[in-house]
Amino acid sequence: MTTTSDLTGKVAFVTGGTRGIGLETVRSLAKLGATVIIGARDPQKGNEIAQQFKQDGFNVESIKIDVNVHQDNVAAYQYLDENYGKLDILINNAGVLLDQENVSIEVVNRTSTLSSAILRDTFDANFFAQIDLTQILLPLIRKSDAGRIVNLSSILGSLSLHADPASPIYGMKTFAYNASKAALNAFTIHLAAELRDTTIKVNSIHPGWVRTRLGGGAADIDEVEGSRTSILAATLPEDGPTGSFFFEENALPW
Ligand SMILES: NC(=O)c1ccc[n+]([C@@H]2O[C@H](COP(=O)([O-])OP(=O)(O)OC[C@H]3O[C@@H](n4cnc5c(N)ncnc54)[C@H](OP(=O)(O)O)[C@@H]3O)[C@@H](O)[C@H]2O)c1
Repeated sequence: MTTTSDLTGKVAFVTGGTRGIGLETVRSLAKLGATVIIGARDPQKGNEIAQQFKQDGFNVESIKIDVNVHQDNVAAYQYLDENYGKLDILINNAGVLLDQENVSIEVVNRTSTLSSAILRDTFDANFFAQIDLTQILLPLIRKSDAGRIVNLSSILGSLSLHADPASPIYGMKTFAYNASKAALNAFTIHLAAELRDTTIKVNSIHPGWVRTRLGGGAADIDEVEGSRTSILAATLPEDGPTGSFFFEENALPW
């Protein structure tokens, strides 16, 4: 896949942009010339990070957003509309992995006893919030000449791989997380189909197994490498894929 390497004039919004993969995605987009708005749950932290980027010569701002809060998502629309009148790149990066809360890390497959609270909280953040925010921002993305929506899914959302006892992720049955990412993948497919006659591309990506708070210290790659597939999907050319699921340049099974 060839990608667009100059994002001058583009406006990008990254949720969960104050740490982990999101922060490195902000940095990469800013280095490519985009104006980047950090979505920060903690507004003070967001402003400090944006200030540092500005001092380094980048166009980075921050707004307060908890994607679970509908009013925050509406406020993000208002901010982007008033300041830019369009949105070129939406990175739905915010996400949670709650399956292992209060349980030993060795205990993975507890599908039969998983609490509905963990299931609901996970779906709120990883599925319902992403849809709410995307639906709210879509009128602004339609005003872009080449809108790109990037949904941070996970290989753990692949139903095909989870059904295959020979697959490398077969043993990683964190049910709430996995099901929420599979549902997010369904959103990608459905929205991409609805928008297929537009210039907007909607894709799900797996960032790799990344050393972040969510990925843990034993993961394969650092956050810089972990942001690469988000950037790839954000900079797809006109003839690039939509309604796809990939890691780096490799398609993943749904
Ligand atoms: N790390 C991996 O190996 C891996 C693998 C596959 C997929 N992913 C996906 O990649 C994305 C980023 O993960 P990461 O590894 O960078 O995780 P992380 O370091 O834990 O960062 C998660 C980010 O999401 C934000 N967030 C969580 N809930 C939010 C909410 N309700 N509203 C707004 N922001 C919220 C967090 O904000 P606070 O700082 O305020 O908590 C944080 O900035 C996630 O969607 C994750 O599922 C990660």
